[in-house]
Amino acid sequence: MEILILTIALTVLAIATAILAFRYRSWLSGNRGPLLLSAAAVFFVLAFLVLFYRTPGTDIGVEQPIPFSHRVHAGVKNIQCRYCHPYVDYSNNPGLPPVEKCLHCHNYIIANHPWIKEEHRYYNTRTPTPWRKANYLAEHVLFNHQRHIRRNLACKECHGQVERMDRIRGKYFYMQFCIQCHRRLNANLGCWLACHS
Ligand code: HEC
Ligand code: HEC
Ligand code: HEC
Ligand code: HEC
Repeated sequence: MEILILTIALTVLAIATAILAFRYRSWLSGNRGPLLLSAAAVFFVLAFLVLFYRTPGTDIGVEQPIPFSHRVHAGVKNIQCRYCHPYVDYSNNPGLPPVEKCLHCHNYIIANHPWIKEEHRYYNTRTPTPWRKANYLAEHVLFNHQRHIRRNLACKECHGQVERMDRIRGKYFYMQFCIQCHRRLNANLGCWLACHS
């Protein structure tokens, strides 16, 4: 949607520039013309780059140290979210699976895959896999999964269809996102004392 609006806005701007240039073409003679033209060219190239890099589909999510795929595990193999994120119902921190958990399966499944060997390296040197965070929440916000899951909110209400993503397309959770849903479901809106602490 915003891409469409941006594209239309840029097109209108381009046409307006062309019309203006035509009207004031006498003023544009001499050195000013080429200069303005270069400025316009630079502007449109920048605009194009912004558009290109923000087009949906080009944003495939942060690269991880091991190309772990939720699509393969949670989707194709239908492993339950809670098998790997077991604390989601009762802790502030849902937890990411430790290497041991991966190896429970991968000591037997595709055990010689180069990435599984990489997992063994982490295991043998006792280094936790340095997973990179995909989601961001402002530091002063207190978010608790438990309260939400008790009300039968599915993971995908907030995280999207993770079981169809190879890499997690994370997002920055803005306050607007929390408020919109709280309004829709009649949850506490006067809770900002509880959220901001
Ligand atoms: C086999 C284990 C496994 C299963 C099953 C699994 N996950 Fe994950 N999950 C991980 C690992 C490992 C990471 C960290 C790497 C990454 O972000 O891809 C992760 C990261 C995430 C994150 C991103 C955390 C962040 O902010 O960086 C979310 C959200 C998530 N999982 C949700 C889910 C949901 C929802 C399901 C069920 C549909 C699920 N996971 C099933 C292993 C698993
Ligand atoms: C419950 C069993 C199970 C667990 C736990 C598990 N996996 Fe897997 N994993 C699988 C299966 C099944 C496949 C598909 C193997 C195949 O393609 O034949 C797979 C495939 C993979 C692949 C191959 C590449 C791909 O995407 O096809 C990688 C890498 C991988 N897993 C990493 C991990 C990591 C890292 C963890 C721990 C966070 C993990 N797995 C936890 C069962 C598991
Ligand atoms: C009401 C919205 C909401 C629902 C429903 C929800 N989550 Fe989350 N989840 C969040 C937010 C917000 C964060 C970011 C929290 C943070 O960074 O402190 C998050 C973070 C995570 C993380 C990353 C934790 C980390 O250590 O970085 C995992 C894993 C996760 N959620 C799994 C799940 C699973 C599995 C479910 C379903 C059982 C689920 N979530 C349901 C909003 C939600
Ligand atoms: C998909 C809908 C949804 C989203 C998104 C959501 N919430 Fe909620 N939230 C709820 C519902 C429903 C409840 C009521 C739970 C109950 O009745 O116990 C709730 C309850 C809460 C409570 C407890 C309020 C109280 O009564 O004390 C806090 C705190 C909270 N949410 C914070 C957040 C924050 C922070 C975010 C954004 C990161 C967020 N929520 C996003 C639906 C949502």
